[in-house]
Amino acid sequence: MEELITIENIVKKDNKGNPILKGISAKVMEGELITIIGPSGSGKSTFLSLMNKMADPDSGIIRFKGKPYHELNVLELRKKIGMVFQMPTMLSGTVRDNLLIGPKLFRQTLTEKEIDNLLEQVALPKTLKDQDARSLSGGQKQRVSLARTLANQPEILLLDEVTASLDPNSSLEIEELIQTLHQQQGKTILWVSHNLKQAKRVGQYTWVIADGKIIEKGHTNEVFEHPQHEVTREFIATSFDEEVENE
Ligand SMILES: Nc1ncnc2c1ncn2[C@@H]1O[C@H](COP(=O)(O)OP(=O)(O)OP(=O)(O)O)[C@@H](O)[C@H]1O
Ligand SMILES: [Mg+2]
Repeated sequence: MEELITIENIVKKDNKGNPILKGISAKVMEGELITIIGPSGSGKSTFLSLMNKMADPDSGIIRFKGKPYHELNVLELRKKIGMVFQMPTMLSGTVRDNLLIGPKLFRQTLTEKEIDNLLEQVALPKTLKDQDARSLSGGQKQRVSLARTLANQPEILLLDEVTASLDPNSSLEIEELIQTLHQQQGKTILWVSHNLKQAKRVGQYTWVIADGKIIEKGHTNEVFEHPQHEVTREFIATSFDEEVENE
């Protein structure tokens, strides 16, 4: 399997010069599904935003298939490495209009069949394509948001808490859709989740980010069953307690 992303000692500072990411090195191989967990404010979203060049590191290098990000066209990079966020933002217009946004950036369009195919991948009925996107439910919007990213045929999906604002049922449905994309299409996925049960359920590999560093990475079951780092142990123990209380 090909090495898709290579991260070499990246540092990212806030605008006052305080480090948010304090030297992260890692590799993402083709076809991997990596869940990323860690305390709030530890730098997970900042890390993901660097992966599709929404921001640049202050030092260190990120490569896609060996090529440094600064040598790559930003639009092309974001086409290959697509991102979905916690709050799906629908642009005005129909579901179809929303799906056409990405391809339009490349002066491309989608046939009705391609639109139907995208809707099918996210388990939305075709009849929804003429509906006002802003009138959809939260779960439906998140499906459209996922389909909009898939319209660019990305090789890598970056997911930042994509089920966090959904009700438990919609959350599980989106989770299953994403797993299907991984299993049936071999999509490479970096998935930040604060739902540890989800991160454990879906991950092949898990990275733990704490205080701007990856303090632990390994096979998901290993990380959850035998955490090596004291901070991981505490984080997993306290977070699982909170999740149980919230149910
Ligand atoms: N644009 C910014 N300017 C200044 N500080 C920022 C900026 N973005 C993030 N930070 C700070 O960087 C740190 C990491 O934030 P980040 O959003 O990456 O954490 P996170 O792990 O995603 O947290 P959460 O689990 O709450 O989503 C925080 O202390 C945050 O306040
Ligand atoms: Mg975050």
